[in-house]
Amino acid sequence: MKILIIDDEMSIRFSLKSTMELIENTKIFSAETGEEGLEILNKEKIDIAIIDISLPGISGIQVLEKIKEKGIKTHVIMITYMSEVRLAVKAMKIGAKDYFTKPFSLSEVREIVENLIDSIDKNNKKEDIDNPNFIGHSNNILKIKDTVNRIKNSGRHTNVLIEGESGTGKEVVAAYIRDVCMKDKPFVALNCAAIPKSLQESELFGYEKGAFSDAKSTKEGLFEKSNGGILFLDEIGDMDIELQAKLLRVIQEKKFRRIGSTKEIEIDVFLISATNKNIKKLIEKGLFREDLYYRINIIPINIEPLRNRKEDIGELVQHFINHFKHSLNSPVKSINSDTLKILEKYKWQGNIRELKNTIERVMILADKEELTIDDFPEEIKESASSSNSRKKLNQTEKETIEDVLKSHNYNITKASEELGITRTTLRSKMRKYSIDKQ
Ligand SMILES: Nc1ncnc2c1ncn2[C@@H]1O[C@H](COP(=O)(O)OP(=O)(O)OP(=O)(O)O)[C@@H](O)[C@H]1O
Ligand SMILES: [Mg+2]
Repeated sequence: MKILIIDDEMSIRFSLKSTMELIENTKIFSAETGEEGLEILNKEKIDIAIIDISLPGISGIQVLEKIKEKGIKTHVIMITYMSEVRLAVKAMKIGAKDYFTKPFSLSEVREIVENLIDSIDKNNKKEDIDNPNFIGHSNNILKIKDTVNRIKNSGRHTNVLIEGESGTGKEVVAAYIRDVCMKDKPFVALNCAAIPKSLQESELFGYEKGAFSDAKSTKEGLFEKSNGGILFLDEIGDMDIELQAKLLRVIQEKKFRRIGSTKEIEIDVFLISATNKNIKKLIEKGLFREDLYYRINIIPINIEPLRNRKEDIGELVQHFINHFKHSLNSPVKSINSDTLKILEKYKWQGNIRELKNTIERVMILADKEELTIDDFPEEIKESASSSNSRKKLNQTEKETIEDVLKSHNYNITKASEELGITRTTLRSKMRKYSIDKQ
């Protein structure tokens, strides 16, 4: 359990820290101000935050509000004076779990925290079963979770199209929708890219015995198998164009026939499709039917590439460390924070799949508790050093410009002539490096 203490009084930070350290399996962080505390909350996956209500700068209540706004999953306990109990009540309304008043006895605080840890443990187990793998707290992920909740609350299963680059977690989102909306119902998947186009139709529709020469016996298709549940059409961009017309008909009429049969079968399926291709481009090229696109895309879910949601990287890394720890029997428990910063800057062209594979690879070799940059492959190290080189280059450029400007008494025309750049370029560089005309 990671516990964060935010209090401006050093003696309180100190006594709380030493008390919390007595509880098994805890790692304690502390901060003097709300700003500092929020920084830690953004970086680390803090389980419990103990926050003083009256802090200098932003108040404890504001910190709590920020936690809730950002969807950070931290349980909050407030510290307050007797005279401020009214504020504590307000905090409970915003979502704090508990509070204690100064002066407090350390054994009382310890009991409150231990109880909370127990209930978090129980809940984590429950969450693990409900939703083991959909990690992230970036705006993009929160929005997806919100959309899925809305689908659930609407009680209607309107067709969803999940779009995202390869490795962003489209299958994970499909499984998440199932867990939230249709837990015990059938979930049937067809990966259109993995099945030859000629077989896609019989997979989906099934066939009657004798419908074609290979049809030795009657076979149920995926439409029937998913009836009452979810049909997940993965890589739908690879669906055969003729089959697309047939799929469109099934969606519209909610019934179909097995190949070789005259009997119509009514179906009710929640259709989730996914693609890493740009369907609009496929439509332009005549490879995807526009009318089908509108039918399957009533609720769009767009998963951002990992490089656009760096906030998720820390949480994902810790999740994968925990995930591989047991299967690899590895001593690794965490990652060093500077190393995490480098991972946050890396491009991750293969998105979460690449991140997951990387963590697995480094954990096979690392024989210590904390991962550091030395454990990571060259291309990641290089990405860090090339951004360092760029920083150095920028620094040199900034200093040169400043020198030349000074030598010309900040005369832009003369300085730009000497630098061999236009006045506009010089001005924009001055803005970039915040160089003021003195
Ligand atoms: N939010 C997430 N939390 C935890 N693990 C994730 C998350 N998103 C993706 N992963 C993991 O990353 C890997 C890739 O995810 P997934 O297979 O869902 O990607 P995809 O978008 O379907 O990729 P492709 O287009 O290549 O099929 C999987 O191992 C998955 O478990
Ligand atoms: Mg996939």
